[in-house]
Amino acid sequence: MKREQWGSRAGFILAAVGSAIGLGNIWRFPYMAYENGGGAFFIPYLFAMITAGIPFMILEFSMGQKYKGSAPKTLTKIHERFEWLGWFQVGVAFTIGVYYVAVVGWAISYFVLSFNQGWGTDTNAYFFSTYLNLGDNSPTNLGSVQWQIALVMAIAWAITYAAIVGGVKAGIERMSKIMMPILFVMVLALIARMIVLPGALDGVNYMFKPDFSKIWDVKVWAAAYGQIFYTLSIGFSIMLAYSSYLPEKSDVTNNAFMTVLINCGFSILAGIMIFSVLGYMAQVQGKAITDVVSAGVGLAFVTLPEAINLLPAPYILGPVLFFALVVAGLSSLISILEAVVSAIMDKFHWGRKKTANIVLGCGFIISMAFATNGGLLLLDLVDHFTNNIGIISCCLIEILLMTWIAKISDTRRYVNSISDFTISVWFDVCLRFVTPVILAIILVTKVHTLLTEGYGGYDLSLGWIIIFALWIIAGFGEAYKYKEYE
Ligand code: ALA
Repeated sequence: MKREQWGSRAGFILAAVGSAIGLGNIWRFPYMAYENGGGAFFIPYLFAMITAGIPFMILEFSMGQKYKGSAPKTLTKIHERFEWLGWFQVGVAFTIGVYYVAVVGWAISYFVLSFNQGWGTDTNAYFFSTYLNLGDNSPTNLGSVQWQIALVMAIAWAITYAAIVGGVKAGIERMSKIMMPILFVMVLALIARMIVLPGALDGVNYMFKPDFSKIWDVKVWAAAYGQIFYTLSIGFSIMLAYSSYLPEKSDVTNNAFMTVLINCGFSILAGIMIFSVLGYMAQVQGKAITDVVSAGVGLAFVTLPEAINLLPAPYILGPVLFFALVVAGLSSLISILEAVVSAIMDKFHWGRKKTANIVLGCGFIISMAFATNGGLLLLDLVDHFTNNIGIISCCLIEILLMTWIAKISDTRRYVNSISDFTISVWFDVCLRFVTPVILAIILVTKVHTLLTEGYGGYDLSLGWIIIFALWIIAGFGEAYKYKEYE
């Protein structure tokens, strides 16, 4: 079967940017920058982007393009004993997909609610009690499925299904070509309106105000590197799958630079947008910005609705803001699940539709765990483990494989032979030494913190079980020789 291909270079870049720009940019980045030293966070962030983000993106684009395979197939071709790593990455992507869809679903609900600010004045009580119906649940005592959440998640699944079944060119590429320009226009329009609100510039100044004492803290560097891998969708099977649809001899270097720079630039725009709103809200409520800022879920579904209540023309700005979140989330969700579909298609030689039916069908059923009363808590726990242990360990092993077991200088020569511009030995140095050492430090520090301090007061057994189960499944993925890869 001939491998599908992107229709154009712009189509590929838009799809890759669509994968990269996601919930991570809009709700994770602004808070992370603020919490980890404000303007000073940009030092580790840019360092991580240059030493890890760009070289790793070049590496994945070139390997996917050269071996024309999803993660397990490409890694097998690099070294026959490494198929399991590809399956582990696919497992991590699938696990992220089944909870990511829940957040996209909430964003769809809030998009609808925002037309008349249906969340009322107490946005905290609305989100946790009325909408999620979170009682005294826990990640292991989930309660029952909340049908209003299941419904919006079904909508998110349906859109993802349509894109994936449509195929690389007619489905994913076409959707990205529609979604990405809309997203940029919406965010730029929002910034143009928000930045002139009273107090908005104070908010933005607050986000960028550097606290240099933080840059000596290992946790800040860990946050910067963790954010780079997550936001760029590298190291967990996505960019390998997307680049496997590139035509022979496509440029790699320039495409990678563009994808990384557009994504990181967008994060800064998202930061300006969010902090303008927070600055305005602090001014209107007569509070300090530190009293209004919040992280993750709380930022998007409690603080932003509260701020929207105070905005002029909230029935316009509110829907645009939540629509941007929905679009950003959906284009990433599509890529996360395409990475899984592509891996199964390569292994079993099944058609796209049959594979999508099975993968997205199973995903839909499993994702209902996150539509329950305690779904948010389960999501928090699973997200923490997949990001901090799952992604970081995948990235570390993949980099070691591709730079120490395979010859990185050969890869560099290959990249230079097909790209618009060439890269030098900095590429080898960053990937062989700098990035693995930092990733190893981050991983050890994180495991130590989880074992000694725990996380969020949860019983962490479930998190470790999930990681362990993903390793076992990955082992089966390698052991089960269905047919040879083509
Ligand atoms: N790269 C995607 C995000 O940032 C997963 O949300």
